[in-house]
Amino acid sequence: MQIEIHRNGEVPLSKQIYQSIVDRIRSGLLQEGIQLPSVRELSKQLGVSLVTAVRAYQQLEQEGFITSIQGKGTFVKEKIKAEEERKEESLSYNWQLSVQDYLPRSQFARFHMVPEKIHLSSSMIDPGLLPNRFLEQEIHKMLSDNPRILSQYGEIQGDVELRRAIYEYLKGFGVPTTPENILVTSGSQQGIDLIARTFVGPGDVVVMETPTYPGAIDVFRGRGATILSVPVDKDGMRIDILQNLCDKHKPKIIYTIPTFHNPTGAVMTSKRRRQLLDIAQSIQCLIIEDDPCNEIYFNKKPPASIKKMDHNGHVIYLKGLSKTLAPGCRIGILVASGSIFNRLLAAKANTDLGSPLLTQKSIIRFINSKRMMDHLKKLRTALRIRRDLVLELLSHHSPEGISWVIPEGGLNLWLSLPSWMDSNHLLVEAKKQQLTFLPGSACSPVEQENHHLRICYSYMNEELLTQGITTLCNILHAEISSKKMSDATPYF
Ligand SMILES: Cc1ncc(COP(=O)(O)O)c(C=O)c1O
Repeated sequence: MQIEIHRNGEVPLSKQIYQSIVDRIRSGLLQEGIQLPSVRELSKQLGVSLVTAVRAYQQLEQEGFITSIQGKGTFVKEKIKAEEERKEESLSYNWQLSVQDYLPRSQFARFHMVPEKIHLSSSMIDPGLLPNRFLEQEIHKMLSDNPRILSQYGEIQGDVELRRAIYEYLKGFGVPTTPENILVTSGSQQGIDLIARTFVGPGDVVVMETPTYPGAIDVFRGRGATILSVPVDKDGMRIDILQNLCDKHKPKIIYTIPTFHNPTGAVMTSKRRRQLLDIAQSIQCLIIEDDPCNEIYFNKKPPASIKKMDHNGHVIYLKGLSKTLAPGCRIGILVASGSIFNRLLAAKANTDLGSPLLTQKSIIRFINSKRMMDHLKKLRTALRIRRDLVLELLSHHSPEGISWVIPEGGLNLWLSLPSWMDSNHLLVEAKKQQLTFLPGSACSPVEQENHHLRICYSYMNEELLTQGITTLCNILHAEISSKKMSDATPYF
């Protein structure tokens, strides 16, 4: 097994090894039951002392991630299957594990498209609330009007007609740009990746909110960044903590989701937005403003974007269209300026020579017309109803000790659990009942955090939402009862 370790970093080597293995187990890159190298092999492979390797394995074993069987070896612990059921052939050490990769974790590999019936895990919109019919007709029309569309490359920067439409759309909610400063990406996930591969190398400091969007953690971890985290409260990123951190370390990038933050739903106040930009200007670093959901507000419109206040090109603004229009089109927008923009454009060329023309063309008429605004209005109403349903169910059925902050927009609700409760364990129980949610650990960029979970209320219809939230509440009640029982059992 190959793990990238940073010898000059502040984190002890055994802790780095421990963390990498935990990440790989949690993201499914290391599957349950698989054999790990012996401590001797591990110390040789990674060029660390035997003591370091032993320490890492000891911590993993103490925390129940791995198990050592005398005479057989060390294995990723199987939580669901009984250990005796383990099949010999699936245990054998797999040579492929010795091929070094740079993927310390990938939460999407674990949580996307799992076969459970009730999906409260992925932050997606119910397909029934998206304009599929219109886009389907547009694609047919595109293909019949211009059958050669599939035999052409589009512009690397993105189709100019689409960039003009996006320019108008962004102007509508005050994001200043020009069609020349827009780069069309394959979803905003690619935007994050392009920024990371262009500007982040091993040891570069990236500041992230905690909790945050798992897909961004995966990308920055994969670049070997030193990630520092700043907590989020109901008003967004804690700027006082950020300021302290920036006094000691010089981040290259600050990644934020200021509006309907994923996963907490928090909205950063205008004052904090201003302060954040001031910090970035004073230390000359970049801000990534990831903004997939600002259109999905339930009461008042959110404050103006940070990009709107940015006059010196510090903010790279990302707007994905997956939460409002069509995740399958894989279209995201990146707005930047100056040489930062030019370098990102070069990175896009290196990555894929441009996003598919067919899907770019197919959304132009929708965005350009009144249809888009009408659709957003309906989407807000539908999602507000689902959010209210979830809030009502939680307030009726959830046990004492569980709390949440009401999201004023976006797709997610963040539940806080008692400190003894582990959302990874709850997930194992939930899956037995055909239910998934996102455990808080997936959203923690640095620290181990198991006392939260994210529920997405936008994907399931009302019937399945009701079923899902009631099941979740039952699981929470059962967990609390079994804790009470074990606390009450006398210890002999
Ligand atoms: C905050 C945030 N950024 C980026 C993405 C990636 O979205 P896409 O690549 O589909 O635009 C997501 C998806 O859930 C997200 O929640």
